[in-house]
Amino acid sequence: MMRVVLAVLAAAALGSALVVPELAKHKGELWAVLVAGSNSWFNYRHQADVCHAYQILHQHGVPDDHIIVMMYDDLAHSSDNPTPGVVINRPGGPNVYSGVPKDYVGKDVTPQNFLKVLSGDSEGLKGVGSGRVLGSGPNDRVFINLVDHGAPGIFGFPTSFLHVKDFRDAIQSMHRNKQFKDLVVYLESCESGSMFLNLPDDISVYALSAANATESSYACYFDKTRMTYLGDVFSIKWMEDTDREAVMNETLEKQFEIVRKETKTSHVLQWGERSLSKMKVGEFVGTKQSPPSSYGPFEDISDPCLESSVAAPDVPLSIFLRNKEDADDLIGLDFWTNQVKELQKNRTFVESRMAEIVKVMTGDKDLTAEMMSDRHHVIRDYNCHQQATNAWNDICFDLALNPYAMRMVHTIVNLCEHGFSASEFTTTAHSVCTHHGITGIQ
Ligand SMILES: *[C@@H]1O[C@H](CO)[C@@H](O)[C@H](O)[C@H]1NC(C)=O
Ligand SMILES: *[C@@H]1O[C@H](CO)[C@@H](O)[C@H](O)[C@H]1NC(C)=O
Ligand SMILES: *[C@@H]1O[C@H](CO)[C@@H](O)[C@H](O)[C@H]1NC(C)=O
Repeated sequence: MMRVVLAVLAAAALGSALVVPELAKHKGELWAVLVAGSNSWFNYRHQADVCHAYQILHQHGVPDDHIIVMMYDDLAHSSDNPTPGVVINRPGGPNVYSGVPKDYVGKDVTPQNFLKVLSGDSEGLKGVGSGRVLGSGPNDRVFINLVDHGAPGIFGFPTSFLHVKDFRDAIQSMHRNKQFKDLVVYLESCESGSMFLNLPDDISVYALSAANATESSYACYFDKTRMTYLGDVFSIKWMEDTDREAVMNETLEKQFEIVRKETKTSHVLQWGERSLSKMKVGEFVGTKQSPPSSYGPFEDISDPCLESSVAAPDVPLSIFLRNKEDADDLIGLDFWTNQVKELQKNRTFVESRMAEIVKVMTGDKDLTAEMMSDRHHVIRDYNCHQQATNAWNDICFDLALNPYAMRMVHTIVNLCEHGFSASEFTTTAHSVCTHHGITGIQ
């Protein structure tokens, strides 16, 4: 009898010694990287979205030392901010700025630093920002949320941009280096689908894009006090859904279906390994249940986000027009009328430079029109795309400082896919773009 009991106890002891750490290891931990790639009051919404994403992770029990935040951080104390220290993500909404970690701010918000964070390169980030990097291992889950301007094959940062090829390579090497068991990416930008067209579907990576590879994403929640947009439709939809749900009851698939249905303005798409969508939202935003929000959902016609939505590239014009409407004297009216005119003149100039490059390259009027048109090719020649986009950025218009120049990148894709080379583009750009140092073309 005694021997049996001892044997059972020994087995139990042995069992727990083996099983418990095994189980804990199997369950793994959650790590997150949150990036807002823009700056300035015009682009308020991108940082507001990312601050909100941080609040979600925080409320669901993810410790700050597992969340890495990159954002310019020029909103809370901006002279444009009527409520200093406060950033909101919907009209009348809570302050999403409080407690947000400032791992990388200002000039440290770069694609290079982002890639180092992903690869866990703490050596390379010594003395930069908090220096923190992903510390995840083979049993861990990683959530990446990116919000900014984009264009076919690129994602913006405050002073430069990330190429799709470098992003894809970074994700693949994270997989090779066993930095995650499962990785989920939620990405909001124009043409965000183009960042995942080449994502493998067998490396435990699942992604959502706010838009398909050839369309804009949309801003929403115009705020009259702040005279800017507070959110982006896709980001608002996934976050407000998360705020309402029991996160350990909702699968990623269900969230995708809800967000796709509610984001009437663009095509929300899923990418990568679809079987991950059976996992729970809570596995990527934190498993602890917080009190569910009672805000929304809304009927389409009374949805305050959709109601105020505008295509991201139209945001600057929309803000100027609203200022013009609001102007209470002739001086104000004149000023904003001129801003609208100048914006249009600026945009025409950017278009004219690209049209001239294409005309010189093709030597053909019809082909030029086709290359400039809204009909987009899919990127296949990634090298040509990368080199020619760099040339457009370096020689003609710095894309980070002239966001409208991003709207011309689809023409670069068209040229590359039509067999024109990046070196032809570069040579021609040198001869056409003789202007220098232009900034501020929104
Ligand atoms: C992407 O969106 C655009 C604009 O909404 C649409 O015209 C196009 O058919 C879509 N493309 C794909 C591949 O879904
Ligand atoms: C999750 O779903 C289960 C089963 O449907 C239900 O019993 C439970 O109350 C739900 N939890 C929450 C927090 O809604
Ligand atoms: C127009 O472009 C100039 C640079 O050429 C810039 O300084 C100015 O701010 C721009 N104006 C608008 C309204 O976009």
